[in-house]
Amino acid sequence: MLRYVREDDAEGLRRYYGREDVTRHLLDGPWDAEHAVDQARYRSGRKHITQAGFATVLVAELADGAEAGRLVGDISLWAVDDSLSHGEASWVMDPELGGQGYATEMARAVLDLGFRHYGMHRIQAQVESRNQASARLCERLGMQQEAHLRRNWLIKGEWTDTLVYGLLAEEFAAGET
Ligand SMILES: CC(C)(COP(=O)(O)OP(=O)(O)OC[C@H]1O[C@@H](n2cnc3c(N)ncnc32)[C@H](O)[C@@H]1OP(=O)(O)O)[C@@H](O)C(=O)NCCC(=O)NCCS
Repeated sequence: MLRYVREDDAEGLRRYYGREDVTRHLLDGPWDAEHAVDQARYRSGRKHITQAGFATVLVAELADGAEAGRLVGDISLWAVDDSLSHGEASWVMDPELGGQGYATEMARAVLDLGFRHYGMHRIQAQVESRNQASARLCERLGMQQEAHLRRNWLIKGEWTDTLVYGLLAEEFAAGET
């Protein structure tokens, strides 16, 4: 189940953002407890896309079973420019629950939100070039690799390459039918 972030999600987010293997390809992390509290508070205020740079930030939680309510991962969608029709998405999963298609399920739902609710015409994802799991996710979603940018992001002191994946509204609609 996807829902908005709450301030009391700090511990649930830290469970996976506290891991080095999860944050290896991300700009920051691993998180400590204080950073998790700050992030949960900040993200709980990110609900609507009303201007460039503004995001909707959602967490996915297990909806039923013995671990109902456990956070599976989180996903953000924001507007790249003031037209609000060009979006970008970013996702992170708890690896203990990885490899079962949950990230694919939450990303499809957020692409649907971007294209159908916000009326976006293009949604992109930027992936550190060695992040094979994220690149495979883009491909499962029907996104096309459009660019390979060289040494354009400074991640934890290292200049890294970025793969840019994109999906157009008509491609998403065709894949849904
Ligand atoms: C990127 C990330 C979210 C992908 O997570 P994931 O667990 O591979 O993705 P899913 O939950 O969709 O699971 C897909 C995998 O499960 C398999 N799978 C099993 N059942 C499935 C199902 N019903 N539907 C889809 N895939 C399924 C797929 O084959 C795939 O495995 P493969 O990649 O080895 O082929 C995760 O690796 C992550 O959080 N990484 C750290 C943070 C990060 O780098 N984020 C990206 C920033 S750009």
